Amino acid sequence: MKDLFLKKDVGTALKNAENSGLKRNLNATNLVLLGIGAIVGTGIFVITGQAAAMYAGPALSLSFVISALACVLAGLCYAEFAAMIPVSGSVYSYCYTALGELPAWFVGWTLVMEYIFSCSSVAVGWSGYMTSLFDSFNLHIPEHLSRSTLDHTDELGWFFTGSLIDFPAVFIIAIVTVFLLSGIKQSTRINNIIVLIKVAVILLFVGFGLSYVNPENLTPFVPKNTGEFGDFGWSGVLRGAAVVFYAYLGFDALSTAAQEVKNPQKDMPKGILISLLICVILYVAVTLVLTGMVPYYKLNDEAPIAIAIDSVGAGLRWLSPFIKIGALAGITSVILVMSLGQSRIYYAISKDGLLPKLFSKVNKNGSPANATICGGIITAIIAGILPLHVLVELVSIGTMLAFTIICISVVVLRRTQPLLNRPFKTPWVPFIPLLGAAICILQMVALPEATWIRLAIWTAIGLTIYFTYGIRHSKLRKGTY
Ligand code: ALA
Repeated sequence: MKDLFLKKDVGTALKNAENSGLKRNLNATNLVLLGIGAIVGTGIFVITGQAAAMYAGPALSLSFVISALACVLAGLCYAEFAAMIPVSGSVYSYCYTALGELPAWFVGWTLVMEYIFSCSSVAVGWSGYMTSLFDSFNLHIPEHLSRSTLDHTDELGWFFTGSLIDFPAVFIIAIVTVFLLSGIKQSTRINNIIVLIKVAVILLFVGFGLSYVNPENLTPFVPKNTGEFGDFGWSGVLRGAAVVFYAYLGFDALSTAAQEVKNPQKDMPKGILISLLICVILYVAVTLVLTGMVPYYKLNDEAPIAIAIDSVGAGLRWLSPFIKIGALAGITSVILVMSLGQSRIYYAISKDGLLPKLFSKVNKNGSPANATICGGIITAIIAGILPLHVLVELVSIGTMLAFTIICISVVVLRRTQPLLNRPFKTPWVPFIPLLGAAICILQMVALPEATWIRLAIWTAIGLTIYFTYGIRHSKLRKGTY
């Protein structure tokens, strides 16, 4: 039983990382751009309007600040680990050194869930934008090729929608997978271009939209609560924060690439914290301009920024196609970085012997090819058949669990191995990590029961794989690590 909690030695983990086939190609700027690439997507382009209209009104900008706080707390813990143990595998690898093999497998399996479901949810968002872009050119993708095969409601349970598959979602994942096979250098080049486009589009919107802001739309800043928790008022601001949490996801995917960074001790903390900070500023600016241009109750739409532009007449109409292109580009880079993260998790787990060896084979471009292809196929199938709302809930629970575990691991490792070289230190330990863990646990508790049941099923599948395969092939147990 004790063997289930065997811990990896940090020194050996670092030495093994140096002998991997992955190449150290990334610098701090690449990391910040990768971070923004992973973070800015469906959250700001789609979810903002619904959250303002349904929960927080103009005070959604405050929700974004509150939500960012939770992410910054976890981000500081990520930065400490990523600088101290710059190997592939993110929380999985950190947990292996702090808590042991079984907890590491559990969190690795949870990360796989986060990345599979976030990639597929974002791909479904991409499909929605693409279909509407086609519609505006009078080209219609038939419904049986642009909707999920299955859907779920509380009353009906699971049912077939009549659609064959969400083809555009499958298509974009296939394209991204091919890019990833060309190696991280090539992939980051594509990501850099995409990030410049999406940030430019957002700045154009903020810059030109500012002169159309009507202060009346921003008063009262916190709309009066309707009598129900979460329905505007300060409780609405809090609920808004939980909903827009999704918009910040992705910064954690950066740490999965730590093994491919030239100077990880300095650059990982910079990459994680600067990209998070830039996104907070962008999100708050967009939300203020958006709710200043249009009364918040008119924003319940899948393309809220387009609604704001249309609301001011002909003056800004020229911006509309740019926004659509920016949204499509933005969402594509989220898929790119999340897929990259997924393949690096498979790679790290397989290197330790807990998954078959073929997942850690690296191709001539320095990319873990089998892991990338396998991740691409699973994600494409899920994106093609499952509806968006089911996917998004699974993303949130997986991420919050990973955040909780990393916060706890920082505290544990500070106690068990206080002398390790920590190029970056989370301030005020244990206060900051424990606060981060508490916020995540509170948000998880608020998620629906069905999401917990799905998490339990996912965990049961993971444990079956571990006890039938991993436990017999673990390199650490066999002493061949
Ligand atoms: N943060 C990512 C997005 O908003 C998941 O698309």
